[in-house]
Amino acid sequence: MASTTSNRRPASRGSQRHAVRIRLAEASDLAFLAGNHRAMAWETEHRRLDPAVVRRGTRAVLHDPARGFYLVADLDGRPAGQLLVTHEWSDWRDGDFWWIQSVFVRPAFRRAGVYRMLHAAVSVLAAHAPSVRGLRLYAASTNRAAQRTYEKLGMTRTGYVVYEQLVRGVGRRRGRGARG
Ligand SMILES: CC(C)(COP(=O)(O)OP(=O)(O)OC[C@H]1O[C@@H](n2cnc3c(N)ncnc32)[C@H](O)[C@@H]1OP(=O)(O)O)[C@@H](O)C(=O)NCCC(=O)NCCS
Repeated sequence: MASTTSNRRPASRGSQRHAVRIRLAEASDLAFLAGNHRAMAWETEHRRLDPAVVRRGTRAVLHDPARGFYLVADLDGRPAGQLLVTHEWSDWRDGDFWWIQSVFVRPAFRRAGVYRMLHAAVSVLAAHAPSVRGLRLYAASTNRAAQRTYEKLGMTRTGYVVYEQLVRGVGRRRGRGARG
């Protein structure tokens, strides 16, 4: 896999034109990334995440590429959005699925093509990584805006349903004691 990617292209937002640059996250992006994770959990699921836990979890990726990697989108030189890629081995396909997670574009920068550029960068990296068989992600069933975004960019809904069995809670849902 390429260690970095830079993808400059003007993005349009209304009548304005913007330069979007996609790059690998660095240690100095920790506060930006962790703040966005918390904002995303609140916006999409009304969950309050523990700031210290989120910082540790984010730092763990930044310090250990075996866990995955973050891409950051800078719009006109300012960090505007992000995603995380983790991988899952597929014995059916003798290769990896890359899971796109922690997708977030700061509200002020939305509908300017920022996520479109992030997605394009992941697609290019995946196409150049011989072990990668495909991209997957999950979205909250209520998050229609995200679903429309992924479908607009060519992703198709799978026939799978996500199940989970929590061992330890990591956040609090609004008005409740423990994360659901
Ligand atoms: C979903 C999200 C990542 C989209 O980011 P973005 O940078 O605004 O998306 P883009 O500008 O690249 O949009 C690409 C296309 O997706 C579609 N799209 C984007 N936002 C949309 C929305 N709110 N409603 C409907 N379609 C949307 C459009 O077709 C758009 O193309 P267009 O603007 O030319 O019509 C952003 O709204 C976000 O961060 N939301 C909150 C966090 C979140 O939901 N994360 C995903 C969790 S699974």
